[in-house]
Amino acid sequence: MTTPHPAPSTVVGASAVWAPAVDGARLLARLDELATISARPAPGVTRLAYSPEDVAARGLVAAWMREAGLTTEIDPAGNLIGRRPGTGAAGVLAIGSHLDTVVDAGALDGAYGVVAAVEVAAALHAANVALRHDLAVIAFSNEEGARGTPGMVGSLAVAGRLDPKQLAVPDDEGVPLRDRIADAGGDPDAIAKAAWPPGSLAAFLELHVEQGPVLDDAGLRAGVVTAVTGRATVDVTIEGAANHAGTTPMGRRADAGVAAARIVLAVHALAGADGVRVATAGHLDLSPGVRNVVAGRAVVGVDLRDTDDDRVVAAVARLRAEAATIADETGTRISVAVRSSVAAAPAAGWLADCVRAAIAELRLPCVELPSGAGHDAQIMAALGPIAMAFTPSIGGISHAPGEATHPDDLIAGADVLCRALVHADTREPS
Ligand code: GLV
Ligand code: MN
Ligand code: MN
Repeated sequence: MTTPHPAPSTVVGASAVWAPAVDGARLLARLDELATISARPAPGVTRLAYSPEDVAARGLVAAWMREAGLTTEIDPAGNLIGRRPGTGAAGVLAIGSHLDTVVDAGALDGAYGVVAAVEVAAALHAANVALRHDLAVIAFSNEEGARGTPGMVGSLAVAGRLDPKQLAVPDDEGVPLRDRIADAGGDPDAIAKAAWPPGSLAAFLELHVEQGPVLDDAGLRAGVVTAVTGRATVDVTIEGAANHAGTTPMGRRADAGVAAARIVLAVHALAGADGVRVATAGHLDLSPGVRNVVAGRAVVGVDLRDTDDDRVVAAVARLRAEAATIADETGTRISVAVRSSVAAAPAAGWLADCVRAAIAELRLPCVELPSGAGHDAQIMAALGPIAMAFTPSIGGISHAPGEATHPDDLIAGADVLCRALVHADTREPS
């Protein structure tokens, strides 16, 4: 549910703070520069987690962090963390997002939250603003789940929630996660050391483009996120019988392609009033993948999301039941395996109030809304309070080259992050 607010004129909860404005022109120029680091040609950006492009982007952002007065480190999970000491309050205030992308993505998903966080640190540095808390600016590794890896790997490691068994699981190209992390300069054997101790996080704020149409459709300029969606990814593997496409009678086939097509439709039907909010079968792999061979094997990669985790669990159970029926009717064997699951996370009330206050001070018309996309913030919720701010996505387009946000909105969002951070620094309940 969304609750629109026309330009709020009063500050929610507390008095206004002073915060420096970010360097908007540099923010936009840096986003453009990052977008050129891509494995595939423009207009899309392809920076798969742990790829040479991902590592190059991390290096560039590390240099910007140092220019902003931060000391930088790469933790064993491959996260880039820039730090700035505070004047003594307990716990770290963290801001950031991720630099990796899906294939042929836009320039903003993840990168915007990181570059804006660096600009916030730079603005505080230039204006000599001392925060009470230590500040960490984080570019998390592998938020997207490249090549079928679990996703949120960097934030899971920081939260101490990365299942070490995941390190041995091969991705869609057969490479185990441990090798990907090592290739990108992480240290999989020491990954437990990436975990922050309980109590060490005072708050985490993530700025992100909305990636959906709510703000843009309503002509609003900012969003306060109420909760981040829960999500499960599921692999449905179908074993049929490969055979000659010209000679095998239709009635004697165990066609994994037909079973896969029915699974795709069954997944689509899992969304709805008594199901999950959205259900997608975005990956389909037929083997041997040849036109004149009946498919002997198929894998359907599934993504299920809802802010109610019970609904996600129920959808997986329904998919298992449907798969059993489809296997029966197509003469195939079908297994349903949950690859990853991430719980929904509500924003912390006091921290969301800091975002509301920042938006109100900047007089931006805003909305309260849940996030349909997954974010590192929901993983960081295991460590401490989280909140998020959104800026509008023109036409609601994301995970596609057409992803765009008006430059004024990008700059305003970074200013929201800066103000929200200053509010959090003064209001954080110890
Ligand atoms: C992460 O980008 C997601 O798929 O929501
Ligand atoms: Mn994404
Ligand atoms: Mn993202």
